[in-house]
Amino acid sequence: MAYFEAINLSKVYKTPNGDAVIVKGFDLEIKKGEFVCVLGHSGCGKSTVLSMVAGLNEISDGNVLLDGTEIEGAGPDRGVVFQSPCLLPWMTTWDNVMLGINQVYYHATQEERNQIAEYYLTAVGLEDALHKRPDELSGGMRQRVGLARAFALSPKMLLLDEPFGMLDKLTKYELQQVLIELWNRERLTAMMITHDVDEAIYLSDRIVMMSNGPAADVGEIIDVKLERPRSREDVMKTKEYQEYREQALSFLNERVYLLDEKKEKQSA
Ligand SMILES: Nc1ncnc2c1ncn2[C@@H]1O[C@H](COP(=O)(O)OP(=O)(O)OP(=O)(O)O)[C@@H](O)[C@H]1O
Ligand SMILES: [Mg+2]
Repeated sequence: MAYFEAINLSKVYKTPNGDAVIVKGFDLEIKKGEFVCVLGHSGCGKSTVLSMVAGLNEISDGNVLLDGTEIEGAGPDRGVVFQSPCLLPWMTTWDNVMLGINQVYYHATQEERNQIAEYYLTAVGLEDALHKRPDELSGGMRQRVGLARAFALSPKMLLLDEPFGMLDKLTKYELQQVLIELWNRERLTAMMITHDVDEAIYLSDRIVMMSNGPAADVGEIIDVKLERPRSREDVMKTKEYQEYREQALSFLNERVYLLDEKKEKQSA
């Protein structure tokens, strides 16, 4: 049974040139504990979908169900991680994470809350940076704070919008590792947006490929049947990996071609 369900999700933005239908009839079911990556061309509407699911962007049509309940606005049952984490600049790593914990675990004792913060900050490798402020942290470290903060709330669902998109390749690999190790412990239901086909295969159980906008929806879905836990080197050597990669790339390339055709027709 689906734990998460997007039903006929649609988004229309009002623009000076009239209504822009960005997402239309986006249907997706995710099982509890499943890790799904959403892949698609720039501007197709991935962040629009994620922000509607997060409750940060009004849904024009359709609905989103999480654990049997329709979502209404944002809430701590969804842990969100963006490309750059929104950390409060005057607060330390510890306090930034504690902020959410204090809200969600208001029944817990101070000692219990401290233990939660300590557990997640250690899990992401920040035990030596607890008292630093965001401007004293590297981009990768800030993203570690973002991950710790999201996981620490034990949300029903993790929503990640290109969390490693701004990092160099090496840091990105490190952070993918941090994310997947944490996820392996907790198996949170996750929806992650990425541009990176390799990242999608390495991390996810399924890759959802969006069609090009306007009126984007779910195009194709790839079932990634690689065993977990995965090692990047081993996974990349498998025949399946290459097949998934080819399938994703050919879907994306085909869309580029269709997009070019559409543009040509429009200008003709
Ligand atoms: N508030 C808004 N008003 C009008 N149009 C918008 C608004 N937000 C986004 N759009 C348009 O909706 C489309 C999809 O945007 P969105 O940010 O969801 O794409 P994306 O797939 O996340 O792109 P990227 O991969 O570059 O992050 C774009 O054409 C964008 O210009
Ligand atoms: Mg985006």
